[in-house]
Formats: sequence, structure tokens, C-alpha cells
Amino acid sequence: MHTESPSNALFKSGRHPWQGIRAGAFAGAADTYAIHDEMRRRAPVWQAPWGDVYLTGYDLVSGSLANRKLSHVPPADVMADSDSAIRDWLIYQEGSAHAALRQALQQPFVGKGMPALRLIVAETIEDLMGDSGLSGTTEVVAAFTRAVPERVICRLLGVPDQDMPMVRAWSGSIRALLDTGFDDAFGGANSADEMSCYFVEHLRHLLAAGRMPPLLTGLAGLVDALGLTAAGRNIAFLAFAGHETTVHLIGNMLFHLAHQPAQWAALRADRRLAASAVAETLRLESPVQKICRWPLEPVIIGGQEIEKNRLMVLLVGAANRDPAQFADASRFDLGRAGRQNLAFGRGAHVCIGRALAEMEGVAVLEAALTHWRTIEPVAARWMDNSSIRGLDALALRLTA
Ligand code: HEM
Repeated sequence: MHTESPSNALFKSGRHPWQGIRAGAFAGAADTYAIHDEMRRRAPVWQAPWGDVYLTGYDLVSGSLANRKLSHVPPADVMADSDSAIRDWLIYQEGSAHAALRQALQQPFVGKGMPALRLIVAETIEDLMGDSGLSGTTEVVAAFTRAVPERVICRLLGVPDQDMPMVRAWSGSIRALLDTGFDDAFGGANSADEMSCYFVEHLRHLLAAGRMPPLLTGLAGLVDALGLTAAGRNIAFLAFAGHETTVHLIGNMLFHLAHQPAQWAALRADRRLAASAVAETLRLESPVQKICRWPLEPVIIGGQEIEKNRLMVLLVGAANRDPAQFADASRFDLGRAGRQNLAFGRGAHVCIGRALAEMEGVAVLEAALTHWRTIEPVAARWMDNSSIRGLDALALRLTA
């Protein structure tokens, strides 16, 4: 494969200038987007010296998401002997196995399911933000940007409040694990297995009680089709994917609004812009930064041949800031119209929780607009993770 690799030679003498996008080498890289811009300009299909292939342009990423020659399932050498719970996750299935599982898991998110979810989201926001008196300088990640989606997903899955700290700990640990690479994630017992054991037991209890929480309405069929273990593993995946992303959507959105008083003022003047604020945050600060695929056979992408089983990393965050697609792409602009961003993926595996995530984002923002006249930035700390973009801490000065 020929790939322009202008700076690969430098790697031989030490750290590669673009290494910040690599799992495990991110170190909270503040300059991620500068690296993305340079990659997109100089090598939009880039074979890194460590072997992985990175895609940055919107069209390349979008086309690859829908490319049937690119598999979601890691190659045999990664999967060999793996009994990690992760191997059963919906996202790592293909074909009819994927379609059947997806069908069972997505039921609550479509059609008549959404109003029930909306009610629980509204109640949770009211509980956490309603009369909390949150004002003055507040660390909002702990107070509600993490707390709301975490409590929503637990309520939707019937997890008791007292078990939420465990879900938080497992989720943080899986987030770190997935960022270090597939050998670790699939290699052996890890936090995903622990979390899955919890959800297998949880399912057993729910089935015995004949009481199904809102996200598990298709549960009985799922257990019949997959068995209790694989079903429990997928409910654990739902618990993880169903909040670890939304947490960052909400945090990232408040970060940008706090830094752009004019956009906050526009929202206060017209709350119908709330959905645009959610969409623009998803584009500019995509919570899922990387999506991985493996070619089933040699493929030509962007004029370059990529060999079978090579790990391809689709940099969603870079695609969503492609200036060929989005004018003034690094600007947070609620008035932006135009092409769809790729934050929820595309194709057969497009996010099943999109409607819930967007609804939560809008609902939290509406509550924020009701409670606060102004929000100003005080301090922020980005997470040390190259795959999920979000804040560890965000202190804002809130004026009621
Ligand atoms: C802002 C919030 C969210 C973002 C940015 C996001 C992003 C994504 C992306 C990019 C994918 C596709 C990955 C791929 O193609 O490999 C995906 C898949 C998925 N998401 Fe989300 N997601 C969010 C919220 C949610 C929520 C709330 C749920 C469930 C409650 C959820 C459940 C899932 C599931 C189960 C899949 C796998 C679908 C499949 O493989 O067929 N996500 N998500």
C-alpha cells in the first residue's frame, strides 16, 4: 500500500507528531483537532508507522461507514480464544446475527416506545436539577451532566439507585479499556465481564418477577434467542453505550455555550434552537471520536489499497470538522444548515439510541435555560481518552 506519510520517518527517532490520535498515547491531547486538520490535508488515508490506517475526510469516513467490504468483527487473531464479554456485543456482530439482535434491542426506541422514555427523562431531570438551587460556581459534570444520563439509563434498565456507583465504575473502566486497543478489550476477563455478570443476575431477577423495565420490553425473546449470558452481556453494553456517550454530549454542549455568550443569548431568545445546539455539539465535539472497521478483502479507499484485516480507524471527529463539508468548520454555530454530521455513525450499525440521546440533550438544555440566565466558564479538564471526547470536570459560574 502506498500512503503519503510525510512524517513517518520522524517516528524512527522518537514520538510521531501525530501520535496524539493513537490509543494509549493521547495524554489529553489538546491539539487533537490540529492533528486531524493536518492529517486531512496531507494524508487523508494514512497508514501509521504502528500499522493502523486512519481516515479523516468526511466523504472517506461516510463512505467507509456504509462499505459492506469493511467488517465490524475483529479478525480471527484478535478474537481467537477470547471469551471476553465484549465479543458478544451487538456492535461486533455481522449479518443475520446482528440483524436479529438489533431488532430485539431497538424496539423501545422506535414508535410508541419514545413517550415512555421521555417521561422518565423529564422526571430524572426534575429530580436532579429541579429545586437543587444549583447556582454560583458549580462543578456541573458531577452535579448533572454525568448524573442525568447515568440515572436515566439505570431507570430505563431497572437498575436500583444504590447500584449506580458500580455502573459508573464499570463504565469508566470499559471506556479506558476500549481506548487501549482490541488486544486488551478481547484478551481476557475485564470490567465488561464483571458488569455482564451483574446484568445476567439482574435479568434473572426481572424474568422471575415478570417485571420489565422500559428498555427491556423485548427481553424474553432476546433471552430465548441468545441465552441468558449473551443477553446479559448485551444489556451491559446498552448500559454502557446508553450513557457514556450522552454524558459527553451534554458536558461538551455546556462547555461551548459557556464560551459563546452570543449563542447562549440566541438560545434564550428562541428555545426552538435547542435541537440545533445538540446537533452542532455532536458535530463539533463528537463524543465518539473513532469507529473501527477491518477489510474482509483488500480494498481501495481514497485511491489507496488497504490489505485484508488491517485495522481502519474512522476519525468521526475529524470528518465532522472537514471544511470541504462544513464552512468555518471549527466554529460553534447554531445557525448552521447543511449536511448531516456522522456522530451517530451510518449504515447497518447506526446508533439505535439516537432519539433518546437527542431528547436527553434537548431536555437538559431546556432545564438549563429555565434555571440560569447566564453560564460562564471557570475551569475545564478534558478526559485522557482518544476514543471518547468529553470532560472529566467542568466548573461553570451559573446565574439564576
Ligand atoms: C450522544 C450520544 C450517542 C452517540 C454520540 C452515539 C454514537 C454511536 C455510534 C457512532 C455508533 C455506531 C458505531 C459503529 O458503527 O461501529 C453507535 C452505536 C450504538 N449505540 Fe450509540 N451513541 C449515543 C447514544 C446512545 C444511546 C443513548 C444508546 C442506548 C440507550 C446507544 C446505543 C447504541 C448501540 C446499542 C449501538 C450499536 C448498534 C449496532 O451495532 O447495530 N447509543 N452509537
